Amino acid sequence: MSSRINIAIDGYSSCGKSTLARELAKELDYVFIDTGAMYRAITLYALQHNLTKPELNSKKLIECLPEIEVSFEYNKTRGASDVLLNGKNVEKEIRQMEVSNNVSPVAAVKEVRKKLVELQQKMGEQKGVVMDGRDIGTVVFPDAELKIFMTASDEIRAQRRFNELKEKGNNITLVEVQKNLKERDHIDTTRVEDPLRQAEDARVIDNSDLTRENQFELALSWVEEVKALA
Ligand code: DC
Repeated sequence: MSSRINIAIDGYSSCGKSTLARELAKELDYVFIDTGAMYRAITLYALQHNLTKPELNSKKLIECLPEIEVSFEYNKTRGASDVLLNGKNVEKEIRQMEVSNNVSPVAAVKEVRKKLVELQQKMGEQKGVVMDGRDIGTVVFPDAELKIFMTASDEIRAQRRFNELKEKGNNITLVEVQKNLKERDHIDTTRVEDPLRQAEDARVIDNSDLTRENQFELALSWVEEVKALA
């Protein structure tokens, strides 16, 4: 009997959700899916087709949705999957600040969410998935065996994202990063469609004062606990 489970990880931007999800998937030999990358890929499409200025042309974007294919391809070096937009690897482009600055309005479009949620649910049918995002425990996998909600202080999150972007060679200031995180949190939590919220049965990790190792050990102990009950 297989005792594979689905693990849903939700939380604010730059809380280290993907880091934890990747580590858990590696340890358990599960598939890691970064759903933020999927919303980012559609945002990149919108940017490439001039659909974001002066504000998002959601009508046109909805019309284009049948032409947009989002998929993943395993990257051995990274030990994680890269996101593909219509067959092209866009993992690098989707991390640019321009995408971060435009992603929340795109992710607030009902039809965009419907398309991606369906895709995500398909990916989890066979279990053995660690998925991170904003609505995984509430909408995508409301029956996930383990739900984790992650949070950290605003200062720590901004500093982490700033360091990450700097490391990748982005020319950016801490203030710009803080502004972007604040705006995204606001849109992500107040939007009508599947806003970010903690599932009632989620276990919370505030990693402001936790090391990566502590956080991983804690989450792994929850996985073991849940699997023993399954
Ligand atoms: O996790 P991230 O920062 O890469 O996500 C980018 C944006 O996508 C984020 O601002 C909100 C949105 N998102 C979402 O609405 N639902 C998800 N499941 C994942 C991300």
